[in-house]
Amino acid sequence: MVVTVNKVLLPEFLKSKPNLKFLFTGGKGGVGKTVSAAGLAYRFSQEGKRTLLVSLNPVHSLSSLFAQDLKGGVIKPVEGAENLFALEVEIDDIVEKYKKNIARRLSEFLKWADIPLDPKPFIDIATTNPAFQESAMFDKMMDVVLEQGEEFDVVVFDTAAVANAARLIGLSKIYGLWLERMIKSREEALSLRVKLSFRKEKVMEEIKKDPLMADLISMQERFNKVKQILLNEEKTAFFFVTLPLALPIAVVKRFIKMVRGFDIPVGGVIVNQIIPKKVAEATTNEYLKNKYREQLEYMRIIESDLGELVRSYIPTYPGEVVGLDMLARLSEDMFTWVPDFLDEL
Ligand SMILES: Nc1ncnc2c1ncn2[C@@H]1O[C@H](COP(=O)(O)OP(=O)(O)O)[C@@H](O)[C@H]1O
Ligand SMILES: [Mg+2]
Repeated sequence: MVVTVNKVLLPEFLKSKPNLKFLFTGGKGGVGKTVSAAGLAYRFSQEGKRTLLVSLNPVHSLSSLFAQDLKGGVIKPVEGAENLFALEVEIDDIVEKYKKNIARRLSEFLKWADIPLDPKPFIDIATTNPAFQESAMFDKMMDVVLEQGEEFDVVVFDTAAVANAARLIGLSKIYGLWLERMIKSREEALSLRVKLSFRKEKVMEEIKKDPLMADLISMQERFNKVKQILLNEEKTAFFFVTLPLALPIAVVKRFIKMVRGFDIPVGGVIVNQIIPKKVAEATTNEYLKNKYREQLEYMRIIESDLGELVRSYIPTYPGEVVGLDMLARLSEDMFTWVPDFLDEL
C-alpha cells in the first residue's frame, strides 16, 4: 500500500488558492498538456470566471481540440462555452516582430557608438541563434501575463514540450541577469562620454536622454513585474502532466526539480490516460490486460515518488478528446474521478 493519504486533489487545492490566475501545463510531448490546460480553463469558465486559454506551441492544437477555428493570433471566444476565450500565438509573427525590435536596438547602438558598420550581420547572428524563438515566445508570454492578466480572471497557458518550457523558465533568470549587465555597461559607456564635464547631474541627464537606455530600463521594469507574478504561489501554478509510463514520469520528476530550482511554484501533477480496473476486467483483449498490469507498476512509482503532488487523475477514453462535450467530460473527471484500483497499489 503506497497510496499517499495526505493528498490534496484539485478541488481542495484550488479552494486553497482563490487568487490563482496564471496556470501552466508542462510535460513530455503527447502526454495531454493541451487537454489538461483546456480542462482546467473550461472549469474556471464554468465557474463564471472570464478565462483565457493560450497556446504557446509552435504547432497549435486548440483549434482541433475545440473543433473550431481559433487561429489568427488573436483572442477568440470559444463558441458554445461561456466565459471561455482562446489564443493561438502565431510564432512567425512574434519572431518577426522581435527580430525588428532587436534590429532597431542594434542599429541605434552602432549609431550612438559612432561605429560605421552595417548592422545586418550582427542582426543575423543575434536572430538565427537557436534560443531566439524561445526568447521571442518568452517575451510574448510576458505580454500576455501583463496585458491579459488585467482583462481576464484566469489565464491558462498550454506550453510546448519539455525542453522548450524548461528554457522559457530558465530564461527568466538569465534574462534578468542579462538586462542588469546591459544597463550597467550602458551606464558606464555613457558616463565615459560625459566624463569631461565631471558633473554627476550631467551624466544622469545624458543617461535619461539615451533611447537604448530607456528601452533597457523599461524592459527590466516589465521583466521584474512578470517575475514577481510568476514567482507568487498565490497567483501562479505550474502543473505537470504524466502518463503511467516510465519516460513521462522521469521527465516530470526532472522538470519539478528544475522548476523548484527557479523558485517557480509547482501546482502539482496530473496523471492522464489511466485504464480503469473495470475496463481491464471486462475486456478479453490481452494487450489491454497487459497494459493494465504494467500500469499498476507505474502507478505505484507515481504514488510513492510523487504522491503528495498528485492533484488529478484522468481516465483513458475510447477516442481522442475532441469537441466541447468530450472536453466537458474530461474537465469533470479531472475534478472528480479517482482510479478504482488505488487500494491495491
Ligand atoms: N485521457 C485521454 N483519453 C484519450 N485520449 C486522450 C486522453 N488525453 C489525451 N488524449 C489524446 O492524446 C493526444 C495528445 O494529447 P494532447 O493534450 O494534445 O497532448 P500534448 O499537448 O501533451 O502533446 C490527443 O489526440 C488527445 O486527444
Ligand atoms: Mg499540446
